[in-house]
Amino acid sequence: MQNFVYHSPTVIRFGEGEIAQLARHIPEGAKVLLTYGGGSIFQNGVYDQVKAALKGMPFGEFGGIEPNPRYETLMQAVALVRNEGFDFLLAVGGGSVLDGTKFIAAAIGFDGLDPWDILAKQSPVKAALPIGTVLTLPATGSETNGAAVITRGPDKLAFVSDKVKPRFAVLDPATTYSLPPRQVANGVVDAFVHVMEQYMTPSVAPVQDRFSEGLLLTLLEEGPKAMAKPLNYDVRANLMWAATMALNGIVGVGVAQDWSTHSLGHELTARFGIDHGRTLAIVLPAMLRVRKDAKRAKLLQFAERVFAVTGGSEEERIEGAIAKMESFFQSLDVPTRLRDYGVEESAIDGLVAALERKGMTALGEDGGVTLALSRQVFEAAY
Ligand code: NZQ
Ligand code: ZN
Repeated sequence: MQNFVYHSPTVIRFGEGEIAQLARHIPEGAKVLLTYGGGSIFQNGVYDQVKAALKGMPFGEFGGIEPNPRYETLMQAVALVRNEGFDFLLAVGGGSVLDGTKFIAAAIGFDGLDPWDILAKQSPVKAALPIGTVLTLPATGSETNGAAVITRGPDKLAFVSDKVKPRFAVLDPATTYSLPPRQVANGVVDAFVHVMEQYMTPSVAPVQDRFSEGLLLTLLEEGPKAMAKPLNYDVRANLMWAATMALNGIVGVGVAQDWSTHSLGHELTARFGIDHGRTLAIVLPAMLRVRKDAKRAKLLQFAERVFAVTGGSEEERIEGAIAKMESFFQSLDVPTRLRDYGVEESAIDGLVAALERKGMTALGEDGGVTLALSRQVFEAAY
């Protein structure tokens, strides 16, 4: 196991009704800016609950943060914060609202010319406004981690900083009853792939491996239940907790990580607008098929422990497990081929060129995902 430091500053308030307690975690006298997305929080009652919880506190609002949040939108919020002196950000929504709010927080503290450098040049975040979160979509893990993914023009880029880790996260599974099935499915796939990107490397670490396998099995069991019984509280709770655990850093400590599926997926969102979770369902099965030799031992472990595939040759077991994973995604109505989304095979040249432009020429835990290999993956995913 590699050396590691793990620190999570995020207080988690989990359970139905916990939104009412959120003001406890906001410093006294803070001027709060509530950030949200396209309006789902007005339809499902979450806005009313947050407003009631903030009673007596001065707060302003910034709405309209879109899925795959855009730099231009977020810079409007930065101007609002500067003009009106907000000093605490409360993000209410899915991963896009949370990520966008992290960028706003970091942009306020940025001492360079253009905060886009935090993404494009990976300029370090030296200071950021404090953030609290109320999550309404279990998927990204953004509620307790330091990552954010922001889009500007054709570029969808990520930054990671401890400075934007939320101070608190309210996780009320009842807020997720109103999710459209497509977003539930996207979230299950996203969380599943987050675990896979930290687990599917040659690292051997029994604690992290068993945690990961437990999360994968939970997602396999609870995902279909959430689709079939959307109003089952316990199912929603299990899903929400699994998605948080999938990317709060715990399963990734001390092990190699491979985020190449996410990197290729971000290109599919940037160029074709495909939902984040869906891009991963396209890329991961192809990535594992193309990279099966580099990941052989862990793929065999995955086959046995997650999908109970134990018969046949090594090749048959590996392909059996990948096929079962792909069928799982499809069973959630998430198609797993590029062509299913109307993308032409000729688009692969542009996808590879975009990776090259961004210097993404040696991805994966070992740098083994070269441009040629990424091309092979897109071709295998077609
Ligand atoms: O905008 P509103 O009106 O709120 O509607 C949203 C949006 O249309 C809706 N929604 C959210 N909660 C709802 C709801 N509708 C009804 N009821 C509710 N309770 O769902 C739609 C999608 O929301 P979005 O926030 O975009 O989805 P998600 O949580 O999947 O976030 C995706 C974004 O997170 C990034 C992705 O790249 C993408 O930009 N990621 C962030 C990560 C991180 N910070 O660690 C890691 C991930 O790998 C991912 O890259
Ligand atoms: Zn993801």
